[in-house]
Amino acid sequence: MAKPVILTGLRANNDLHIGNYLGGLLPIIDMATQKADDYQINLFVPDLHSFTTPIDHGTLQTGILQNLRVFVAAGLPLDHPDVHIYRQSYVPAHSELTWILDCFTGMGEMGRMTQFKDKSGKLSEDRISVGLFNYPVLMAADILLYGASYVPVGEDQSQHLEFTRDIAERLNSRFGDLFVVPKAVKEQHAFFGKDQGLRIKDLADPTKKMSKSDETGKGVIFMTDSPEAVRKKIMSATTDSLAKVAYDKDKQPGVTNLLDLLALFGKQDLAAVKKEYEGQEQYGPLKTAVADAIVEYLTKFQTALSKVSDEAILNKLKTSEEQMNQQANATLLKVQRAIGLRE
Ligand code: TYM
Repeated sequence: MAKPVILTGLRANNDLHIGNYLGGLLPIIDMATQKADDYQINLFVPDLHSFTTPIDHGTLQTGILQNLRVFVAAGLPLDHPDVHIYRQSYVPAHSELTWILDCFTGMGEMGRMTQFKDKSGKLSEDRISVGLFNYPVLMAADILLYGASYVPVGEDQSQHLEFTRDIAERLNSRFGDLFVVPKAVKEQHAFFGKDQGLRIKDLADPTKKMSKSDETGKGVIFMTDSPEAVRKKIMSATTDSLAKVAYDKDKQPGVTNLLDLLALFGKQDLAAVKKEYEGQEQYGPLKTAVADAIVEYLTKFQTALSKVSDEAILNKLKTSEEQMNQQANATLLKVQRAIGLRE
């Protein structure tokens, strides 16, 4: 029997930040390093997702390769036969299945997606692309083509994952068992443990998530930031005027975000971090500890990044993309037959 598939993708827009790293990348790297014998691991660059909103197309290629380097520097074992890296656009079945799924998806369903509402709210009607609108359908195709059961993502993508389950169940009930339905979000959290379903907040405005589309970059820590930049951003992180450290997402989102970051990057778990800092009347020591922990972590990561071999990546891409085309085409053919496009 085929192994269960764990799959995730990280867009190549801008450098990856610590939210992408913790929410999307680290959980799958943990699985790839600890459980690659029991699962198939698919870590891909959703390059077709990159221009749902306008981008500089001249830097897309560089961004794609940089993402792949980050995957390897984070610890992805390229030499394992069941670990795969690939670029979405090199597997044309993604686009083909998207069109088919589009025709079984409601306009209302897509219009309700929070991410669409957030992103489109900032644009005039003519600048909202149809691609931005039906982007969750492409994401569903990314997942369903490989029969992925587990999809580690940050909290912002949970709604898209639920949609993937809905569309898979819809087609399965109409046409027979076409797709593996990915596990429900709750089960995903249980499977991946603490790093799943995260929402790391912007340091300058902790009421919103850390996001690479934030132009100022002031509240965003990129994986390639220098120690000085990290310290500056953490030390000037927005907190509050309550002058007492407490873990309270609603009343003290900035301080709570810092406690979370310390638990994720430092050596203590959240319970220990809370025990040490809650009740303190100054925020300075907490900020210094967070900055130290992130600087130490990123310094190690950046050393690994500088040693990554592009040749190893390109070789692995070639093998993986061949294999992924085979797997994806097999699913696509099943769907094409079921809906009457093929004998
Ligand atoms: P993307 O590229 O915007 O983000 C990559 C991953 O980072 C997570 N993330 C966060 N996690 C915690 N806190 C944050 N502040 C934060 N910001 C981002 C995202 O949830 C994601 O896991 N649509 C996806 C890419 C994609 C995909 C897929 C993922 C395309 N096809 C199939 C899984 C399966 C996206 O735009 O993620």
